[in-house]
Parts: sequence; C-alpha cells; structure tokens
Amino acid sequence: MTNNLLKNWTNDEYLSLEKAVILANHGFGDTGLFSDENLAKLIDNHPCEHLTVSTMGNDPTKFEWIEGDRNGASGQDIMELVKQGRLWLNLRNVLNFHPEIAQAVNSMYDELEAKSPGFKAEDRSANLLISSSTAMVHYHVDMPVNMLWHIRGKKRVWVYPHFDYRFVSKSVVEKVCAGELSEDVPFDTSFDNYALTYDVEPGQLLTWPQLTPHRVQNLGGVCVSLSTEHKNARARRRINVHEANYFLRTKIGKFYRSAAVDGPVAEVKQLLMRSIRLFNKLFGARKEQFVYTKRFKINPHAPNGIEMLDVKVELPTELV
Ligand SMILES: [Fe+2]
Repeated sequence: MTNNLLKNWTNDEYLSLEKAVILANHGFGDTGLFSDENLAKLIDNHPCEHLTVSTMGNDPTKFEWIEGDRNGASGQDIMELVKQGRLWLNLRNVLNFHPEIAQAVNSMYDELEAKSPGFKAEDRSANLLISSSTAMVHYHVDMPVNMLWHIRGKKRVWVYPHFDYRFVSKSVVEKVCAGELSEDVPFDTSFDNYALTYDVEPGQLLTWPQLTPHRVQNLGGVCVSLSTEHKNARARRRINVHEANYFLRTKIGKFYRSAAVDGPVAEVKQLLMRSIRLFNKLFGARKEQFVYTKRFKINPHAPNGIEMLDVKVELPTELV
C-alpha cells in the first residue's frame, strides 16, 4: 500500500475539499512511476481508444484544439515528440489499465476519505496528462470533481470563480452536462481579472469545486500530472440537475431552471434523468457524447511529429 501521499495538509484543507480552491502538497512523484522510461511503457501498454493525442494553437482566446491519431507510434517516439514539439497526451482511465497507478490513486482517495469528515470519492477515475513545455489547455470545465496532482514540469493554472454563471452560462453548463458540448467553454480575457493564478510546481495539488472553469499554460519542462476525478451523491445530483434543465428547456421551452443541488426539486430532476437514461437503455436509444474529429496523425518524420489530415470540421457555435 502507498502511504502518505498527502503531505502536511492542514485541517482547513481537509474541510475545504469540494468547497474551495486548495493548493496542497503530495507525494505521487516519490512513487517512481513517472520517469521517462516508465511513461513510455505506460503509453505502449495503454489502449489506443483511451489515448488522446492533441496539439493546439497559441491563443487562449481562439479555440484551436486539434486532436490526432497515434498512428502506431511507440511510447518512446511519442515521448521524444512531447519533448521536442507541442503535444498534449491524455492517457484516459488509467485506473483500469495500470494497477500500480490505480493502487496509488485509490490509496490517496482512501486517505482523503479517512481524514476529511463527510468526504466521499465514488466513481473514481484518473487521467495521466503528459505534455510539451509550451503546451496549453483552453478554458474549460470538468464535469466530475477534479483534482490536479502535478508531478513534473511547471504550469500556470488560472482558476475562475465557481458556481458563477457570468463565467460559464447556465445554457453552456447544461449542454456540457447533457453531452451536447465537450467540456470546452467560451472564454473572454476579461475573465482573467477574476481568476486566481497559480504557478504549480511538482509535488503540488490544485483542486476546486465541481464544474469550476480553469485553463492551463505550461511554463517549462515536460509536464506530467495525474488528473483524478470522482463523484458522490451530491456531484451526481448536480450533473443531473443541469442535464434535466437542458432536457426541460429544449423539450418544453421556458421552465424552472434553478441549478440548486439540494431540495425536493433537485431530487425530482435527478429522478427524471435517471428514468430517461433507463428508458434509453431499455429501448437502445443511447445518446453519443460529443467528440472531436481527429485532424492529424503522428508522424515522427513530419515537423513537430504532426501530419495534418485532409478533414474539415465544424466547431460548436459556442466556441467559434
Ligand atoms: Fe481540467
């Protein structure tokens, strides 16, 4: 068992989980799991359908997020391209495929549950993020509760006010929760006046309440982070309320659109969404989640390892 992944947390930090932005210390880097050599092995052993390879533009206000195809490249080749180029890798669902990482992440969550009164981390998952020194991630929200355990390199993270619809409108949050949009959401530079900005170092955790908007700019070195996600009864209900609001708005028109997570109305909205999901499951009407079209393939001989494909894409109107 991996012990003491949480380093020198204060009582206040334990009590603030999911309620406030927290910068705290951790020991994931001491596990020896995130060396270049091991990262290459993890990439080689990670199923292709759970590996996202992306590149991006330079302007945080212009949504240029481009997803690509691994094209059979080896883990070692991909790590070289991460060092030289401008790539962002996301090894999704690592808990399902890499037992040593699963053991460490579960040990961390167990420790949090033991030390934070009332905290529950159910539906646990984790993504391993490996990115170039100049890469960035556009303004977005994550649907589950999200914790960024930074392990290598240095990155700047802007964290914007949570539960504040001036920064992500209700309509957009509803679309994200309903799977009509990815988690990327419209950004305006004026939002930066309200952001908390952190230059995150290896060994630091940054976390925030569910659906808090944030964006990232790498500042140097190959950046490696574990982005862990969990839900619990309240987090699931928050998603269900937004999804129900989307359903009611699009099917019935004007409707009561409170985003309140507690109380009988929220319970009814949750019941509504669960019933619709069950109905869809029984009658095979499963809805596809939004995904980006792959627009390049990895080619170690192309500039920056990126060979663009001849495909046209239309971005959601919210991001144009
Ligand atoms: Fe995120």
